[in-house]
Amino acid sequence: MGIKFDYSNSFIKEHEYKNMEQIVKTAHTMLHNRTAQGSEFTGWLDLSLHFDKEEYQRLLMKSEEIRNNADYLIVIGIGGSYLGARAVIEALNHSFYNLIEDDKRTSPRVIFAGNNISGKYLSDLFEVVKDKEVYVNVISKSGTTTEPAIAFRFFKKFMEEKYGKEKARERIIATTDKSRGSLKELAKINGYETFVIPDDIGGRYSVLTPVGLLPIAVSGINTDEILKGAFEAEKIYSNSNLFDNECYMYSASRQILNRKGKDIEILTNYEPSLSFISEWWKQLYGESEGKDKKGIYPASVNFTTDLHSMGQWIQDGKRNIFETNLIIKDLDKDLTIESDDMDLDKLNYLSGKTVSYVNEKAFKGTLQAHVQGDVPNLIIELDKLDEYNMGNLIYFFEKACAISGYIQGINPFDQPGVEMYKKNMFKLLGKPE
Ligand code: PA5
Repeated sequence: MGIKFDYSNSFIKEHEYKNMEQIVKTAHTMLHNRTAQGSEFTGWLDLSLHFDKEEYQRLLMKSEEIRNNADYLIVIGIGGSYLGARAVIEALNHSFYNLIEDDKRTSPRVIFAGNNISGKYLSDLFEVVKDKEVYVNVISKSGTTTEPAIAFRFFKKFMEEKYGKEKARERIIATTDKSRGSLKELAKINGYETFVIPDDIGGRYSVLTPVGLLPIAVSGINTDEILKGAFEAEKIYSNSNLFDNECYMYSASRQILNRKGKDIEILTNYEPSLSFISEWWKQLYGESEGKDKKGIYPASVNFTTDLHSMGQWIQDGKRNIFETNLIIKDLDKDLTIESDDMDLDKLNYLSGKTVSYVNEKAFKGTLQAHVQGDVPNLIIELDKLDEYNMGNLIYFFEKACAISGYIQGINPFDQPGVEMYKKNMFKLLGKPE
């Protein structure tokens, strides 16, 4: 069970890891003793110790109510208040989750809003849900983020017109700070049920709090198992010895490669359902590491799709990249290729083989090609795509990110750079001071 980390194609030599041993140990101590920058946002590190079980039971009850009464759950949020839930829902559910017909589905469709400023997107969404049974989960830690605030203003009106104020309040759930912010205030005044984003957990580390857990549970995924996987990962990745901790080996590998001029990390996958894991990962690493004019630029590709677009660049372009391959060993669904009398498509040599077998060879062939093209490759392998492994993976990436940040000498838990565009936009919009 769990994650395997393979650095045999990284071009990193044993002594380079040895040189990192003490640096990693120091980063570990800084993180665990909470002595470094941003330590007030490290509640995710040992979540199992202060997990609010009562609130979690209430969350599961609410998710049951939504599952029984909604055709659609609209999840309003952006960044860390959006990507984790979507990543897990897309990874673990049916590939066409929202397209499954009404009589065959056991959970509501889940649609995300408030993650853009598009009038078209919102108008189209209202057209789709206007005659349906709807619940809304609005998620914002600060409660003041423009994108979700705009979407929620429209959805609040929609829900009140559709159900009346009284009934609407039962169908709107706010996930926000426990005591501060406009959304908390709005929830109090309107009597919405609320779930808490803990003070010591920042947006992009919050998927295992109600931010992610409520929408994920509504979609029918077993959140107990996700938490089990994450809590187990807390133990697995608590060893301060670099060579005994695969999570730290990943952090160290990234930093060694970065010091050798590899400025871009490309997360690859060979399963379409993992594409939003990459989006979540990009936010986690991009917002955590890109500061003080430092950082590894996190990019992603979906293979084999993007072998027909970005494959050229990766094989032959500038050698400032490395790849991290997120690989699933066994999937529970597959198809076998059959023989065809005519064989016009010349695929009979594959008859009797599964599609996964072909996909695996595509991965191995690509790995060889990119390594021959001087691209260091790391591999993170999950034995299965299930709840337990997902919990494991989320924690693995979060902790590796924090350790990488401390190795790099930055604060992995703040995001001062995102304020600049907001300042300019508000000025252009004439927002009162
Ligand atoms: O990781 C982060 O802190 C950010 O991406 C936030 O999650 C994002 O900006 C949304 O913030 P909020 O939840 O306050 O609306």
